[in-house]
Amino acid sequence: MTDASSNNILLHLDLGDRSYDIAVDDGLLGDAGHHIAPLIGDGRAVIVSDSNVAPLYLGTLENSLDAAGIDHASVIVPAGEASKSFAQLESLTDEIFKAGIDRKSMLIALGGGVIGDLCGFASAITMRGIDFIQIPTSLLAQVDSSVGGKTGINSSFGKNLIGAFHQPRLVIADLASLDTLAPREMRGGYAEIIKYGLINDVEFFDWLENNGQALINGDRDAQRHAVLRSCAAKADVVAEDEKENGRRALLNLGHTFGHALEAETGYGDALTHGEAVSIGMCMAFDLSARLNLCPEEDAARLRAHLQSVDLPTDLGDLDTASWTADALIAHMGMDKKTEGGTVVFIMARGIGKAFISRDIAIGDVRTLLNDALNG
Ligand code: GLY
Repeated sequence: MTDASSNNILLHLDLGDRSYDIAVDDGLLGDAGHHIAPLIGDGRAVIVSDSNVAPLYLGTLENSLDAAGIDHASVIVPAGEASKSFAQLESLTDEIFKAGIDRKSMLIALGGGVIGDLCGFASAITMRGIDFIQIPTSLLAQVDSSVGGKTGINSSFGKNLIGAFHQPRLVIADLASLDTLAPREMRGGYAEIIKYGLINDVEFFDWLENNGQALINGDRDAQRHAVLRSCAAKADVVAEDEKENGRRALLNLGHTFGHALEAETGYGDALTHGEAVSIGMCMAFDLSARLNLCPEEDAARLRAHLQSVDLPTDLGDLDTASWTADALIAHMGMDKKTEGGTVVFIMARGIGKAFISRDIAIGDVRTLLNDALNG
């Protein structure tokens, strides 16, 4: 049971003996040791962070572990998506063993989505699985990737194709760490927040229309409300469908299109994950409207809100001169559909009314993409 009421900073993700708390508040990092101590006993902690985050927050976390009497070491990996690789995983696990771990040891992921995914996967496979804690420092990691146990690295065949479901023992989201994010990173995380309103919470979408810009600008109360509500929404879905056999797929709203755009831009600076999801959510609503599943006004309302916070909404916002609909369709795996595969699309009957569809026709997707590329 989760509770995102305004004064409750502690959510609970109910997964039987793998249940855990999600703490969300301002300044939690300085007191992290106090939250971690009951989970680690006399085990050793190994903090995994990256070259951007460590100079900002590693010292505070280390001090709080010292204050709680927790023995610790740390490993710093290069910042950036390239660290989600086999090579970095091997070097990280070597460093973890050099730090002198045993089965009672605990990894602590201190950073954004890359660190959470990499450290989580290392903890899933090291000694056949040791515990780990998520301390997400980016908005995207706080509202999405740190919760729910998806861990992994990238393959030369695509993003996140190597991984494991491995739940953390605790998530600590310190809102103060949002203060050092670049505006573009804030907006990218915000796209994932909007997703929760679109899936099944029109009241939250209404609230975001009124408070989203303040949240991005640093309003702490708005951030607290949105992070709590997003984590509560995610925790509810994951508690019901941990391994994505059903409802969890709703969390991929905008991602089938978004991943194709990321693949086409090479996962680089040209388009961040959150920006790709922003355009992808518009495409999902546009396709829904074209198929008369969703009112045109809802697709327009979504586009207007995303534009009001400076998120991209259309392929016209990108340099797509050399792009083709067929290449995007291939990135989605839709070209293989006739060979037995099924592409899952998250469609909508309106804002707050998303649903899972497995029977979208390739021709409808091609027409939408051609119009978007030529529009
Ligand atoms: N980011 C989607 C999920 O965790 O299922």
